[in-house]
Amino acid sequence: MNTIIEPFRIKSVEPIYFSSRNERTDILKHAYYNPFLIKARDVIIDLLTDSGTSAMSGEQWAGVMRGDESYAGSDSFFRFEKVVNEITGMPFIIPTHQGRASERILFSITGGDGKYVLSNTLFDTTRANVEFSGAEGIDLRCAESNDPDAPAPFKGNMDAAALQTFVEQHGAARVSLVILTVTNNSGGGQPVSMANIKEVSSICRACRIPLFIDACRFAENAYFIKQRERGYGMKSVFQIAREMFSYADGCMMSAKKDAFANIGGFLAVWDEQLAEKCRNLLIITEGFPTYGGLAGRDLEAIAIGLREVMDEQYLRYRIRSIQYIGEKLDTFGIPYVKPTGGHALYLNAGRFMDHIPVHQYPGQALCNSLYLEGGIRGVEIGSVMFGKYAADGNLLSPPMELVRLAIPRRVYTQSHIDYVAEVIAEVYKKRRKFRGYRLTYEPPMLRHFTARFEPII
Ligand code: F0G
Repeated sequence: MNTIIEPFRIKSVEPIYFSSRNERTDILKHAYYNPFLIKARDVIIDLLTDSGTSAMSGEQWAGVMRGDESYAGSDSFFRFEKVVNEITGMPFIIPTHQGRASERILFSITGGDGKYVLSNTLFDTTRANVEFSGAEGIDLRCAESNDPDAPAPFKGNMDAAALQTFVEQHGAARVSLVILTVTNNSGGGQPVSMANIKEVSSICRACRIPLFIDACRFAENAYFIKQRERGYGMKSVFQIAREMFSYADGCMMSAKKDAFANIGGFLAVWDEQLAEKCRNLLIITEGFPTYGGLAGRDLEAIAIGLREVMDEQYLRYRIRSIQYIGEKLDTFGIPYVKPTGGHALYLNAGRFMDHIPVHQYPGQALCNSLYLEGGIRGVEIGSVMFGKYAADGNLLSPPMELVRLAIPRRVYTQSHIDYVAEVIAEVYKKRRKFRGYRLTYEPPMLRHFTARFEPII
């Protein structure tokens, strides 16, 4: 059969509230034209993030009941530790309440003034935590990633030659870490190839720079390797994941993504001394080392989710369902980053809204028009999220203006997705009617979460 169906049945449902267009006009105004400030009940299809929004399985919910809530040494921790160790091979495993907690702990120890953290692309909280420590985060993206239309298979790769040059110019001692984000979220959800992981790893090992994997979407990345990289077609996703981690010195993961959990994360490392330092910080702000800010039931849900995510029927459906939206958009010639990523479709807002200049935030305009038209919530990944100011106050824009439509795992069905494509097509037809925005308030860091806007009339 050619039709790839959702590999699950639905046992428990949540109603969707259908707002009218008039209501949404009002709601958007009261949210200062920032979709992060809209109440979730006022959203019809919520594609803001794939983080913490997964539908857990019956097994995970059963695990929630089994969760051992002992303060120290709970059974749930040991089950969690065993699974993470099986997948990563790493011996020291530290639970945290979510990805950014792992980041804060790691960079508090390894970062600091005058240091660099190099990456294929740092996620926004990762960059913020690097910078908060005093270090500087630098993205060395592969050349193909700059072309949104290039159908290259591994556009998440790091530019290994640029890494080598950077280390030669600045000295290995100043590079505290290299981080490979798999898949590369801010770069379009694109995968990193095994060859690239190996090459980056060998540069790091030669220079004694620790390599960490930001493993939020490791299973999606492993599945892309299986599909696209020579020599991996016959290997299981588990074997591929295991190999990916074997080239790294440590990893951090937000379990809110590929572990189908609603909360949680971890740090895993090979170095016992580093683990010790991390645990000391963990105790101050997260919790005892066997729960790290989570409940026993969360650890249980993560342990089960990490095994479930490597199911290849699931991954086949997952990757295919994102491609499916892309194919629908192709029929209207709607610009998006190609090929489609593992967890999201990234609309090319710069081109979609090419009548709006970057300083009027075309991505924000596209996000807001999707909400107005069909109650869809996406997120701007462009000048609002990554824009900085030059000394003269001018906006410095990132290379692309994108809108990410992240697909929560196991939550929406094909008809929801058909509706999403229809709304995007409708907005595309009317795009010239939509205007840009100006900022009326912005906080000093991670401004996209709480910034306020007004439309430019
Ligand atoms: N690293 C990557 C690659 C991420 O995508 C995220 C979160 C984090 C780290 C931080 O993890 O949220 O558990 O603290 N990404 C979410 C997103 C928020 O919408 O892409 P966290």
